[in-house]
Amino acid sequence: MLLLTGATGCVGRALLRRLTASAEPVRCLVRDPRGLGSERVRVQIALGDLADPPSFRNAMRGVKTVVHLAAAIRDQPAGSIEELNGIATWRMVRAAERAGVEHFVFMSSLGAQRHDRTRFLRAKALAEGAVLASDVRHTVFAPSMIYAPGDMFMTLLERMALLLPVMPVSGHGQALYQPIWAEDVADCVMAALSAKPAAFDSGNGNERFELAGPQTLSHEQIVALVLRSAGRARRIVHVPTPLVSGVLRVLEALMKSRAPATWDEAELLEVSMTSLVGTADAEGLGVTPRAMGDVLGV
Ligand SMILES: NC(=O)c1ccc[n+]([C@@H]2O[C@H](COP(=O)([O-])OP(=O)(O)OC[C@H]3O[C@@H](n4cnc5c(N)ncnc54)[C@H](OP(=O)(O)O)[C@@H]3O)[C@@H](O)[C@H]2O)c1
Repeated sequence: MLLLTGATGCVGRALLRRLTASAEPVRCLVRDPRGLGSERVRVQIALGDLADPPSFRNAMRGVKTVVHLAAAIRDQPAGSIEELNGIATWRMVRAAERAGVEHFVFMSSLGAQRHDRTRFLRAKALAEGAVLASDVRHTVFAPSMIYAPGDMFMTLLERMALLLPVMPVSGHGQALYQPIWAEDVADCVMAALSAKPAAFDSGNGNERFELAGPQTLSHEQIVALVLRSAGRARRIVHVPTPLVSGVLRVLEALMKSRAPATWDEAELLEVSMTSLVGTADAEGLGVTPRAMGDVLGV
C-alpha cells in the first residue's frame, strides 16, 4: 500500500493518474475527496488533515511507501505555514517510523533554507531536515517552480489580465526560476519509486534530487509567457514590494482564506529557485523536462 498526500494538487493529480495505472494499491490522505475527481473510485480514501496528526497516523496502517506532497503556502484556519509544512512533516516522519514504513518520499523545494526570508522556505527546510535525519529510507525532491496549465498561479494571472489593462509585478520581477512541468515531476517520482535503491544512492538507500526545467526564466519572463499563452499579453508594471506587501496583508486580514493572493505567496516570487545541476537529476531518472513555452504552446 502506498499513502499519497497532496493527491488533489498540481503534482498529486499527475502522479495519481500514473499510480492508479500501476499495480500498487493507493490510499490518499485528503481533506475533501471530491478533489480527486474520477480517480476517487480507484483509491482508498483516508480523510485527514496536516493539522490533525491522528488522521495521518491512522492513514499509515499497512503502508510500505509514503509520498508526501501536501503543503500549504498560506496560513489556514487549522494551522500556520510553519505547522502545516514543518511540524506536520516532522510528525509524519515519526509516524512513518512507528508504522514500519519502508520508503518515505518527500517533496521539498529548491531554496529551502532555515534562514530564508520566506516563512514557507524556512518551514520546508525544517521539514527536509526531519526527513533527512530519519531512519526510514527516504527520497527527497527539491523542485524549482512547478507549473501546469490551469494551475492556481496561471489562473490568477489570467483573471488579473481580464480585469486590468496592465499586469502588476511585485518588486523588480528578476528572481530566477527553472520552471518544471508537473507531469515531468510526476514522471521523476514514478522513476524513483520503481528504481532499485542501488541505482542512485550512495549505499544507504537515501536519495536527493533537484528538479529543474531546461530554461532559466525571471519572474517577469514567466508572467509574460503565461499571458502570451492565454492570448492576453499586457504591459508589465513593477510595483514596489512594500506597497504589495501592505495591500496583500490588508486583503488577507479582511478576506481571510478567501483572499485571492497573500503576501506569503507573493514573496515566494521574489526568491530565486535555481539548481546548479539544471536538468541533470531529472535526466538521471530518465526524464527530459520540457521547456515551459513548449508545454504552453507559445
Ligand atoms: N508548485 C510549486 O511551484 C512548488 C515549488 C517548490 C516545491 N513545491 C512542493 O511540491 C509539492 C507539490 O506542489 P503542488 O504545486 O502540487 O501543490 P498544490 O497544487 O498547492 O497542492 C497542495 C496539496 O496539499 C494539500 N493540502 C493543503 N493543505 C492541506 C492540509 N491542511 N491537509 C491536507 N492536505 C493539504 C492540498 O489539498 P486540498 O485539495 O485539500 O487543498 C493539495 O492536494 C508541495 O509539497 C510543494 O510545497 C511546489
